[in-house]
Amino acid sequence: MKIDYGLALADGLGQGRVTKEALEGFHPELIEAQNWLEAKRRSQEVGFMDLPFQDLSPILQTAQEVRRKFDHFVLIGIGGSSLGAQVLFDALWNPPHNPQVYGEGPSFHILDNVDPVKTTETLEEIEPENTCFCVISKSGSTAEPMANFLVALEALEKAVGIDKARRQMVFITDPEKGNLRDLVKEEGYRALEIPPNVGGRFSVLSPVGLFPAAVLGINVRRLLKGAYQALKSCEKRDISSNPAWVITALHYLHHTLEAKSISVMMAYYEKLATFADWYRQLWAESLGKEGKGQTPVKAVGAVDQHSQIQLYNEGPRDKIITFLQVKNFPTNRRIPPLYPQKPALAYLGGHTLGELINTELAGTASALAKRGVPSMTITLPSVNEGHLGALFMIYEIATALMGHLYGINPFDQPGVEEGKRLTYGLMGRKGFQEKGKEAQEIWSKGKEGTLTIDLGD
Ligand code: PA5
Repeated sequence: MKIDYGLALADGLGQGRVTKEALEGFHPELIEAQNWLEAKRRSQEVGFMDLPFQDLSPILQTAQEVRRKFDHFVLIGIGGSSLGAQVLFDALWNPPHNPQVYGEGPSFHILDNVDPVKTTETLEEIEPENTCFCVISKSGSTAEPMANFLVALEALEKAVGIDKARRQMVFITDPEKGNLRDLVKEEGYRALEIPPNVGGRFSVLSPVGLFPAAVLGINVRRLLKGAYQALKSCEKRDISSNPAWVITALHYLHHTLEAKSISVMMAYYEKLATFADWYRQLWAESLGKEGKGQTPVKAVGAVDQHSQIQLYNEGPRDKIITFLQVKNFPTNRRIPPLYPQKPALAYLGGHTLGELINTELAGTASALAKRGVPSMTITLPSVNEGHLGALFMIYEIATALMGHLYGINPFDQPGVEEGKRLTYGLMGRKGFQEKGKEAQEIWSKGKEGTLTIDLGD
């Protein structure tokens, strides 16, 4: 894996204050941030960097059993409790290309949203009696997974009775606290543990991401090995060999010196597009605090060249872009040389689609650089468990370091909580009546300016 970042430096762009010297001069700040993070790790306040060393046996044993017994697997969880597994599913488990690698596992479904149609359709697609439902919630109180859990449990109970229904569920939650843990203790549901010092969006390498991955037949040992190797690189106190430092320093310097308040991640491989969703959550929820943070944006090449690139090139100069590139695709396709007499078609003939998509990335990055828009390109030799494990670890460390540089706590999410409390109040949850009233008052103000469009029937 490599990161090319020359086009994020003033020399490559022919302009700007983020010079090679500025990058090298940032060393003391990076050392300070790294010391802070390592101290948090040593005191066990922050646990995501220790996940490569976890005991995998409970995950693997339970996953083996689920693979053997069930035809369908439904993950119920949201945000940090579902996005990591979604990345692994989209990037790696891609039939019809890989059935020989991953074997015949259960069909895979994610219920993150409380979209009534999606939940209904998912429950109609599976046969409840042959389905394992995996409910993932660190807090055990998030409205969306709790609602989907209740709906799924009812469907399951109708199909197989309550005792069997409970045995078809696996919870992944805090080892001590929360409603799911209480249910484990009271009713004997099976459960795996999320380490208390690993927050939702930093938990993909815990049972949260590893258990669903193992059910899919993905090699979770290789994922952790990739993460471990990345962790080692990210311990190097030298910017030329520490990938997290490069990402952190360039994003921070471009934000503070050049007002690049938007960070775009543009994946030139559709199966990696979900990684950009994962990044979007990690960067936004960790860093968007106290007026700080960069707005993360997901884009997909080459499709979004025909949607976003006009803006990136000639719109506000507020973006830094990370391109994700894959060297070897699992399958590739030659473009046939069918119309040699037509120059607009002839030049394509004999190349592959993979060559074209990567060349489009090069063309796009160069056009952006000509206008002074900074970018870096992360190239994966191929998309496999090891590379994904490494990417997860690098971005988690970079995010933590960014948080320290901004002077905020990257591991909490106070801005999400108030919306949750107001919703609890509106939904009539005990203890939240005052919040309900407050929400009603504010919400009703929105209706003081109303426009109604009569569309007949
Ligand atoms: O990163 C986070 O902490 C959040 O995105 C959570 O993962 C998300 O809100 C779900 O929380 P929980 O796992 O407690 O249901």
